[in-house]
Amino acid sequence: MPEPRRIVLGLSGASGAPLGVRALELLHAAGCEVHLVVSEAARAVLAAECQRTAESLAPLAHRVHDPRDFCAPIASGSFRCDGMLIAPCSMKSLAGIAHGYADNLLLRAADVCLKERRRLVLVAREAPLSLIHLENMRLVTLAGGIILPPVLGFYTRPASLAEAVDQICGKALELLGVESEVYRRWE
Ligand SMILES: Cc1cc2nc3c(=O)[nH]c(=O)nc-3n(C[C@H](O)[C@H](O)[C@H](O)COP(=O)(O)O)c2cc1C
Repeated sequence: MPEPRRIVLGLSGASGAPLGVRALELLHAAGCEVHLVVSEAARAVLAAECQRTAESLAPLAHRVHDPRDFCAPIASGSFRCDGMLIAPCSMKSLAGIAHGYADNLLLRAADVCLKERRRLVLVAREAPLSLIHLENMRLVTLAGGIILPPVLGFYTRPASLAEAVDQICGKALELLGVESEVYRRWE
């Protein structure tokens, strides 16, 4: 049996909290050891969009880290992990990552991923995008991160929003090397 994958999952305060919740469910179902960090703003969006608290997600995570806790293991490069997913990723968090401005644990953990050359996937959500957003995406890409906007894939003919969410989350997991049954490939 392969070792369980250790993944850091961040939820930031962009619209799309259901993407973060679903990603967590899929990572948990895949047997991953998930280290979850939910930003302050994400807590508000989680309440507005999913009627959930960050604490309610705890049963699906190995650990839930306080975004103010810079002493958490995921704040250090010596804590080994297979990668980090931020879903959804706000333009503020994107900016912090692009410029190495790690003023909360979510940003610090992403910064660590880039410096350690580990996989970092950002489900960056805003519309429309300004030049600043695009330049920050360019910078993160140059640094080795992957920008995965939550774009609908019509070729799978999703019958519901839930199916569209599954496809986006399945793609994000695939980029982290985690298999999920919900991801549908073009045959
Ligand atoms: C309901 C709601 C929806 C939001 N949607 C977005 C969004 O789609 N993209 C974005 O960049 N910011 C969005 N914001 C603003 C962010 O929450 C705000 O910039 C915050 O500072 C992000 O902080 P964080 O990245 O530390 O979570 C939204 C805020 C709220 C309350």
